[in-house]
Amino acid sequence: MGTTGWGATGWFPVARTADVGTAPVPVAAGGRSWVVVRMRRGGEVSAFPARCPHRLAPLAEGRVADGRLECPFHGWRFDGEGRCTDIPSLGADGVPPPRADLAVPWAVEERHGWVWLAPDRTTTPSPPRPSGTPQPEPAPADASRGPVFGNLDPSLEHAWHPVALSRELRPGGWLQVRLLGRTWMLRRTDTGLEVDPPAYAVRERLGMIWLAPAEPRDVPLEVPEAADPAFVTGWLPPLRSPGPAGPLADTFLDATHSAFVHTTTIGAADRPAVGPAEITVEPGGFRSVQEQEVDNPADPDVVSGARPLRQRRRTTYSYRAPFQLRLRQEFLDSGATTTLLYLLQPEDADSTRIYVCLMLAAGPGRTLPDPRTVTDQVALQQRVLEEDIAAQEALALPGLPLDRRDEVHVPADARGLALRQALCDFIAAGERRLAA
Ligand code: FES
Ligand SMILES: [Fe+2]
Repeated sequence: MGTTGWGATGWFPVARTADVGTAPVPVAAGGRSWVVVRMRRGGEVSAFPARCPHRLAPLAEGRVADGRLECPFHGWRFDGEGRCTDIPSLGADGVPPPRADLAVPWAVEERHGWVWLAPDRTTTPSPPRPSGTPQPEPAPADASRGPVFGNLDPSLEHAWHPVALSRELRPGGWLQVRLLGRTWMLRRTDTGLEVDPPAYAVRERLGMIWLAPAEPRDVPLEVPEAADPAFVTGWLPPLRSPGPAGPLADTFLDATHSAFVHTTTIGAADRPAVGPAEITVEPGGFRSVQEQEVDNPADPDVVSGARPLRQRRRTTYSYRAPFQLRLRQEFLDSGATTTLLYLLQPEDADSTRIYVCLMLAAGPGRTLPDPRTVTDQVALQQRVLEEDIAAQEALALPGLPLDRRDEVHVPADARGLALRQALCDFIAAGERRLAA
């Protein structure tokens, strides 16, 4: 127990000194969550708030590298005093903004075999000798700071949501699905699709079944590749993320986490520095185009030596609120295109089903990609998605923060900011309609 009680000022025992090494340890003091860690083997203990100020990733999942604590999500680094020293997306010469620094506790000390924290200034200069074995605080429920956009937000009633792949519902068959915290029964009859309890509408589009609980006000995502004979299509098996859809959509729009989250798949080939993205606001969402250099080992001309491995790639991101995304990746040197659709089903507060469709074109003058290529690419994208889901599980957020002051943004986060704005507009459109 703290010397003056939980949630008050004073010294709080948080961990045995022997239990704190160079792997960050999550602890609690004064009703708040922290991590304690040694920035060098045998060095003194540093203490930091539990979450990174950028996208609120838990720093307990981070690692110590070169005497700094590195966030697991986008690799921001912090020194022992909490100063942010590196933001990889800014490039080697980038200077982190002051807001990126961590608000460290007033003091941390090792005494009597324990690590003690004083979260705020206290008049007692050092930790007292405990009368018995100290009892560290249990971790507090994570107090959410401002409004977040979760999977049960009432505005989501007014949108088309993907609820199944068309092939999951056979003729004459039925299927139970979860959407917005409720169970719905789908049937495919001779006359078409039926849903119970009654909804505004149910329909099929892009190889999926979509359900609108109430009159929808979203704008459908256009997918020209679906009607283009130059493209072949492969679906990933639907996967589930144990969290809300908002932070997932944020991840699919984010080009700066690859080098840290996708370490066993596509991350090694990506450079952490990312140039600013241009954003074009469109009805129901936005478009964003970004060019970068990436390795393209799948190009047959790379294998034959006719073209270098490192190539220019232009990615066009198209987003429609609430949770529809299309990423069109054009390899400018070979003419090949890979388009990815990410369509999210907000099942429950802590569950999102993810549908990913891959569309491949080989480029002018080439035959269609063969089935083996499609199978390989689907398998790769599935492993990439599994890494994203693992990151979401660690993130453990109740929703996407909508108040921009609750996070710290850098130029590479332009699409993340546009996503937050589009969701605010989506919510506000419903409120205007209610008031009208
Ligand atoms: S670097 Fe920590 S959440 Fe992005
Ligand atoms: Fe990712």
